[in-house]
Amino acid sequence: MATRDNLTLTISLFFLCFSLNTHLSHGADTISANQTLSGDQTIVSAGGNFELGFYNPGNSSSYYICMWYKKVSTRTVAWVANRDSPISDKYSSVLMIRDGNLVLLNTQNQISIWSTNHTHPSPISVIAVLGDDGNLVLKEGFNSIEPIWQSFDYPSHTWLPGSKIAYNKRTNTHQRLTSWKNIEDPSTGLFSLNLDANNSQYLIMWNGSEQYWTSGPWNGQIFSLVPEMRANYIYNFSYVDNENESYFMYYLYNPSIISRFIMDVSGQVKQLTWLENTKEWNLFWSQPRQQCEVYAFCGAFGTCNQIIQPFCNCLRGFSPKSMADWNLSDYSGGCARTNLFQCENPMASNKDSDRFWEYPNMRLPEHPQSVAVNSATECKSSCLSNCSCTAYAYDSDNCSVWFGELVNLQQLGGNDGSGSTLYLRLAASEFSSAKSNKEIVIGAVVGSAVVLLVLVVIVIWTRQRRLVGSMKPVEGSLIAFGYRDLQTATKNFSEKLGGGGFGSVFKGTLPDSTVVAVKKLESINQGEKQFRTEVSTIGTIQHVNLVRLRGFCSEGNKKLLVYDYMQNGSLDSHLFQEKDGKVLDWKIRYQIALGTARGLAYLHEKCRDCIIHCDIKPENILLDVELCSKVADFGLAKLIGREFSRVLTTMRGTRGYLAPEWISGVAITAKADVYSYGMMLFELISGRRNSEQSEDGKVKFFPTWAASVVVEGGNLISLLDYRLGENADAEELRRIARVACWCIQDDENNRPTMGQVVQILEGVLEVNPPPLPQSLQIFIDNHEHIVFFTESSSSQSSQPQSNSRSTDSSQAKSTASTSNKS
Ligand SMILES: *[C@@H]1O[C@H](CO)[C@@H](O)[C@H](O)[C@H]1NC(C)=O
Ligand SMILES: *[C@@H]1O[C@H](CO)[C@@H](O)[C@H](O)[C@H]1NC(C)=O
Ligand SMILES: *[C@@H]1O[C@H](CO)[C@@H](O)[C@H](O)[C@H]1NC(C)=O
Ligand SMILES: *[C@@H]1O[C@H](CO)[C@@H](O)[C@H](O)[C@H]1NC(C)=O
Ligand SMILES: *[C@@H]1O[C@H](CO)[C@@H](O)[C@H](O)[C@H]1NC(C)=O
Ligand SMILES: *[C@@H]1O[C@H](CO)[C@@H](O)[C@H](O)[C@H]1NC(C)=O
Ligand SMILES: *[C@@H]1O[C@H](CO)[C@@H](O)[C@H](O)[C@H]1NC(C)=O
Ligand SMILES: *[C@@H]1O[C@H](CO)[C@@H](O)[C@H](O)[C@H]1NC(C)=O
Ligand SMILES: *[C@@H]1O[C@H](CO)[C@@H](O)[C@H](O)[C@H]1NC(C)=O
Ligand SMILES: *[C@@H]1O[C@H](CO)[C@@H](O)[C@H](O)[C@H]1NC(C)=O
Repeated sequence: MATRDNLTLTISLFFLCFSLNTHLSHGADTISANQTLSGDQTIVSAGGNFELGFYNPGNSSSYYICMWYKKVSTRTVAWVANRDSPISDKYSSVLMIRDGNLVLLNTQNQISIWSTNHTHPSPISVIAVLGDDGNLVLKEGFNSIEPIWQSFDYPSHTWLPGSKIAYNKRTNTHQRLTSWKNIEDPSTGLFSLNLDANNSQYLIMWNGSEQYWTSGPWNGQIFSLVPEMRANYIYNFSYVDNENESYFMYYLYNPSIISRFIMDVSGQVKQLTWLENTKEWNLFWSQPRQQCEVYAFCGAFGTCNQIIQPFCNCLRGFSPKSMADWNLSDYSGGCARTNLFQCENPMASNKDSDRFWEYPNMRLPEHPQSVAVNSATECKSSCLSNCSCTAYAYDSDNCSVWFGELVNLQQLGGNDGSGSTLYLRLAASEFSSAKSNKEIVIGAVVGSAVVLLVLVVIVIWTRQRRLVGSMKPVEGSLIAFGYRDLQTATKNFSEKLGGGGFGSVFKGTLPDSTVVAVKKLESINQGEKQFRTEVSTIGTIQHVNLVRLRGFCSEGNKKLLVYDYMQNGSLDSHLFQEKDGKVLDWKIRYQIALGTARGLAYLHEKCRDCIIHCDIKPENILLDVELCSKVADFGLAKLIGREFSRVLTTMRGTRGYLAPEWISGVAITAKADVYSYGMMLFELISGRRNSEQSEDGKVKFFPTWAASVVVEGGNLISLLDYRLGENADAEELRRIARVACWCIQDDENNRPTMGQVVQILEGVLEVNPPPLPQSLQIFIDNHEHIVFFTESSSSQSSQPQSNSRSTDSSQAKSTASTSNKS
């Protein structure tokens, strides 16, 4: 391969093609002056992390010089050299050093397709070396340190550890991440991640102009709006601002973890980590959280829907401009009208003028124009009178009209009522003709017949079950019960299962013999409508680790909720009291921790509106017949909207599990649940209440001692419930103890999200040693009567001295009667 002579090259390539179909590699990490790279040849970095060669992503026929992760089995490209100038034949192209530059040449006509393009005074002995960090460096000889050119300065869509996202103050230029055009085309896409040096934050821009997301400023630890991107976990983030440039950079604490940060074709930044055992990229977090928050994701005349797949659809009367692009998840081309407007059609008769299709509950398109009118009718005719007007909206005396393309539309779901109605202009021919009207009539007749039939069946079924007409399904699958039915089912509320912050719970049996738990709510002063709305929202939340709501009763001030019955009761009864000499073994405890985390992660992250539980404690973790954990009582404290940080006015929750921010009175976020969960993990480990009063009246606070053992790397077995006789998986104990400590950090930004807790407990994420939560220390300093648990006291004590076995959360006498003094 030491020649540039065409003939020799052709012969050797011919030879290559027939003798070696498989991977041929230089076996080196360097391209030097006398070497070229062509066809299937590659170079591999010294430690085998990265490989560089020709590659066609997806099934495209275009080839690119790509760098990919050598150790990742599904080929994942990290960098592309010639992203905007593909080649069609990898055998007639070579990558080589020419005049001190790395150049991609077409061997037929010697034309340069791509070049590193730098001007260097002495182009002698320049070599290109692929580093183990994924940096392709051009330098003068092996011993030179200063690179002449490096791929880190020209990132494509992946931000590798050690490279920068930067703003150069001298040249006024950005070094940014840019998405691919689609999943198999690495050419420059519409979305880019930029540095806003003025505010030390990131921005995501659409087409270099429209900013639709910001990370919030960097405070040295986190970005204010992306707490998950904290430095503590696996990254070491740093921000540098000097007279020449500003930039962010990060390193992985553990360089053997393969983690990448990308600007995805979805318009979201994503952090993914490679999992060798499952052979897939695991999504760690992505921003913006919702696909429809990405500006103009569905293109012109497309509408985004967060709830149904695919996210993008064309408006009525429109179809995708390029189906091929849509098939590759590139919706940016948008939609085109299938019929001309009547006003654009010279053949149209007057009486068939354009009409408007009503789209209720929409996020309105960008760039409206206001028109001063007095009524909806005037608004409509003002749009109709100009042929380039494509839509209007009329809301509270405001008339908005749009000319030309409609972008950034979103169909809002459900009943959140924040949307507006858009009137889309369409040719009259798009509206149903006489024939389809008839179809609608027929449809309606058939439809009502079916409804009638269903009603009859329901009535008969209900009769058969001798439920005197008072049990009717409402929204979703919830059943509205009559008070008398529940009175009967619970034998006049005779079998009490427990009490909680919101009322007592009774066991009941429905006429079809299903056993249920009926919660009698106390002091609910919500209006009927609000109550039903909230209950039906709770009813839609279903997850294997959440207790399912089956129905409710609302008659005057009698408000009851009907849940699935959990045979094994609540966690506290297993943990703090011995049941027939049975102790929950370690495996089950771990599964309970994991299941609870999954349930909470679902509440926090996966359902439409974020729900903060506000009262996580063993009493609210129920166990089904197989001891699978289910979180109870969620959604009752308060349903809070999409903005995470809204102050809860009513303070709920149980002392001892309460995060410090409850006491300091700042806004409560989902991280308050994380704190309570962490406190509960300590109890799961030790099998006893976190705070106990000993005979001499001193209060022991277990987490203080436990955290110091974890932080100092002490013997974790000493923390374990003595009844387990040291039978616990050491690795699981280490994970759970560290997670617990992270969860109870004072600064909520340092606590993991429940999603991360799940991943850590699943073994997917590594967890670093936690710092000691400061307030635990202060706690000690301020309360002299509190003593540390000592190793001996924890392993000798016989029965836990919990003085409250009731499940009444609002009182919670024993649990940290100490914390309220601060
Ligand atoms: C290519 O050049 C390097 C020095 O630049 C030399 O060490 C190496 O032996 C040469 N390889 C071939 C195949 O000529
Ligand atoms: C490429 O094509 C093959 C068959 O033609 C198909 O099985 C495979 O899923 C395609 N891969 C991608 C990434 O589209
Ligand atoms: C290199 O410079 C040429 C001419 O100035 C330009 O056409 C080409 O796009 C540049 N290539 C790169 C990779 O910047
Ligand atoms: C940053 O500040 C400078 C001057 O203060 C201003 O000209 C520039 O537009 C600002 N950039 C951004 C992105 O706000
Ligand atoms: C992006 O911006 C450029 C000019 O700034 C414009 O020509 C192009 O049409 C825009 N792309 C889209 C998809 O709107
Ligand atoms: C974090 O990164 C900085 C450089 O950006 C480095 O000096 C420091 O040692 C790193 N810390 C750790 C713990 O890796
Ligand atoms: C900024 O650039 C100048 C000129 O290249 C250089 O001398 C100086 O050291 C740079 N400053 C920093 C902080 O890197
Ligand atoms: C897009 O995908 C659909 C279904 O997968 C297929 O029928 C259609 O032919 C595709 N269209 C194009 C242009 O690739
Ligand atoms: C329609 O509205 C556009 C945009 O405001 C304007 O430029 C155009 O002159 C209007 N056409 C008529 C016929 O009024
Ligand atoms: C009408 O629009 C203006 C400007 O867009 C806005 O400030 C005002 O609140 C709107 N009025 C109503 C009643 O929505």
